[in-house]
Amino acid sequence: MRYGHFDDERREYVVTRPDTPLPWINYLGSEDYFALVSNTAGGYSFFRDARLRRLIRYRYNNAPLDVGGRFLYVRDDDTGDYWNPGWQPTQRELEDYTCRHGLGYTVIAAARGGIRTETTYLVPPGETLEVWRTRVTNDRPIAARLSLFGAVEFCLWDAQDDATNFQRNLSTGEVRVEDGVVYHLTEYRERRDHFAWFACSVPVAGFDTSREAFLGAYRGWDRPLAVEGGRLSGSIAHGWQPVGALHATLVLEPGESRDVAFVLGYTENPADDKFDPTDSDRPNTARARALIERYREPGQTDEDLAALQATWTDRLAGLQVTTGDPHVDRMVNIWNPYQCMVTFNLSRSASMFESGIGRGMGFRDSNQDLLGFVHMIPERARARILDIAATQLPDGGAYHQYQPLTKRGNHDVGSGFNDDPAWLVLGVAAYLKETGDRAILDVPVPWDNEEGSQTPLHDHLRRCIDFTLGRLGPHGLPLIGRADWNDCLNLNVFSDRPGESFQTAPNRPGGVAESVFIAGLFVLAAREASAIARLRGDETEASRCAAAATAMTGSIEAHGWDGAWYRRAYDHVGNLVGSAENDEGQIFIEPQGMMAMAGVGLGDGRTRTAIASVRERLATPHGIMLQQPAYATYHLELGEISSYPPGYKENAGVFCHTNPWLMIAEAITGNGDGALDYYLRINPSAREAISDVHRCEPYVYAQMIAGRDAPTHGEAKNSWLTGTAAWNMVAISQWILGIRPEHDGLRVEPVLPESWTSFRATRRFRGTTYDIDVRREPGGGTVGGSDDLVSERGPRVEVVVDGRPIEGTRIPLPGSGTPLVRVEVRLA
Ligand code: BGC
Ligand code: NOJ
Repeated sequence: MRYGHFDDERREYVVTRPDTPLPWINYLGSEDYFALVSNTAGGYSFFRDARLRRLIRYRYNNAPLDVGGRFLYVRDDDTGDYWNPGWQPTQRELEDYTCRHGLGYTVIAAARGGIRTETTYLVPPGETLEVWRTRVTNDRPIAARLSLFGAVEFCLWDAQDDATNFQRNLSTGEVRVEDGVVYHLTEYRERRDHFAWFACSVPVAGFDTSREAFLGAYRGWDRPLAVEGGRLSGSIAHGWQPVGALHATLVLEPGESRDVAFVLGYTENPADDKFDPTDSDRPNTARARALIERYREPGQTDEDLAALQATWTDRLAGLQVTTGDPHVDRMVNIWNPYQCMVTFNLSRSASMFESGIGRGMGFRDSNQDLLGFVHMIPERARARILDIAATQLPDGGAYHQYQPLTKRGNHDVGSGFNDDPAWLVLGVAAYLKETGDRAILDVPVPWDNEEGSQTPLHDHLRRCIDFTLGRLGPHGLPLIGRADWNDCLNLNVFSDRPGESFQTAPNRPGGVAESVFIAGLFVLAAREASAIARLRGDETEASRCAAAATAMTGSIEAHGWDGAWYRRAYDHVGNLVGSAENDEGQIFIEPQGMMAMAGVGLGDGRTRTAIASVRERLATPHGIMLQQPAYATYHLELGEISSYPPGYKENAGVFCHTNPWLMIAEAITGNGDGALDYYLRINPSAREAISDVHRCEPYVYAQMIAGRDAPTHGEAKNSWLTGTAAWNMVAISQWILGIRPEHDGLRVEPVLPESWTSFRATRRFRGTTYDIDVRREPGGGTVGGSDDLVSERGPRVEVVVDGRPIEGTRIPLPGSGTPLVRVEVRLA
């Protein structure tokens, strides 16, 4: 069952009924001001940090679901009928409801009783404000007298404190109203240099700033007294719950349309310019007023929307494909890169499942997120790499997270995840392959943000490698520390205290828990580090890293192979995890994919055997489960993984992040059908038709789909902020379509499913656009791949660049300034 449809031409998903199984959201803003907006206009906004600078309140996990955030009411002043054009919170029936989620904007349209509204929500590029521009049209044969009420409930900045510290914060709220603009000034008199404001593009008929006055005692947002009566009372909040509610009136002749915009903004003032006059307690609103003036022009929103769309057209031009498969094309061309950008901006901080309070930027997460967007905005990737590396600890290890506002490592959320440093190598490698910007390696970067501790970025990479090599266990495999990529495989924690965090509970000393997965990841990272050292002409480091990769491969071969798949780990006392010897958790997906990506087991057939085991034991129609059999009981020696009910999250859920690793493994071994099959199982567009089962948005990946053991098998959770976005982008674009940046040029090495005979793509790479045309001759092979695969499968690959055949599949770099290169790939 569907709740809408894709509009690929306009790059939108059109929700056609408001009661989606869960709020289906979008994100506005991509620099400093961010907003979550659901298909009923619910959600909240913040400046940079979802916890510390939250502008408006949103109550998670509420009943009914998704009440408000952005309240907009239309009232027919002739009859007293009122409704929300986004359906919530009154839930009054609407005609022709649609919510179009586009790239950085959302448009909600509906009609009731002959009054049509279309509200465009967006954050104008470069601004710290959001606009809700409503176009109201009178479709009645007679004139209509209407009211529009816009309202927000201010959050008193720190969302955690706002939701918990009532003894203080029910007394601190302050507002001021001037010229019809509500200024939210809580704590501005004292240490804050910022305030929020709520304004309207037309002169207002009234305002309220006290929630109780606006709603009426013991009433909810579904029937505000002030809206019911059609009059706001001019209330001023003193403590309690400050709101901004504004009332615009309009008379529309038959067929007439008018635009009214409500604007919510955030303004910072320099410390010595906070008050006007300087020695008064009157806030300096000059900066805010200048912006408000601009948004009194209704045409401004159309201009902003056009600018936003142009930015996205340019970004998406990094890669555009036509394969003929709509699920591939719309995800690769529109939604997957869009999600990658959102994960880049927000890491794991604010979604419908991440409250914006709990988490900063993950070290490993942010490095992996780079993989998905580096081709769109390389300059921002560069800055991000330098920020991440600056949080690295002098021993090469990492804080597990850092805070976006301070860019400093955060110890409160745990550390000692021994896979963390290896991901930095992969992030840097991806950046270098995309841009060729070797100068980044010489940029001085501090350690743990200590001034004066700077050493070149390449030295950070060296210490990433040293970190693992200095922490090997009895089998020569990396010690796992608190956990590896699987945050829930806590082999040293032994937590038996209810409520204790697995991320921060003390590790039991003296253990020898080793991770076969980190071993594979290390081989991949050490190979990348070796290639990077070679770029710099540092042969000593290049050979050292290559030798370390070889030695680690030896340990994996000796102690990581279980007979039909790679093992997962050795626990605290050296017992196997992820082995046929175990009763539960016999086979895990992570090492199977990672080994193939690291090139371990390709020569000896183990990769193929491992892949076959995955297909047999872990694959479901809804994606590949993380492990099997699920843990039915809590295992003290395994930790959080076994705390989840079977089938959910890390306990045998389809943890989508890891699925692309298997797609890549399938592609590396020449099986395009296998790769595409896995791709389509979790591809949200391909699951659109079962939206009632999947329940999350059909345009973005979710972190998890409930596994076979779960009563709700197939149900997705934790949509949007997940490494799944970046890895699926990598799997489909670099391994199935085979368009892969390398240090010395762009490689085009597709591994096609049998059913495909051709595809076209354009890829922007180091300033040149590559126009790529891939075709199979009748009866031709499917693998445009590396030599051993090609010879195994028999086809001939011919790559013709600007009319001239080349050797192999890597296109030599054209002279700089070459605008266009034509590439034809023929599979004979
Ligand atoms: C989740 C993991 C997550 C970890 C850290 C756990 O509860 O299951 O997916 O990585 O928390 O936030
Ligand atoms: C989500 C976390 O953000 C990520 O870092 C981790 O790898 C996965 N969960 C698996 O536990």
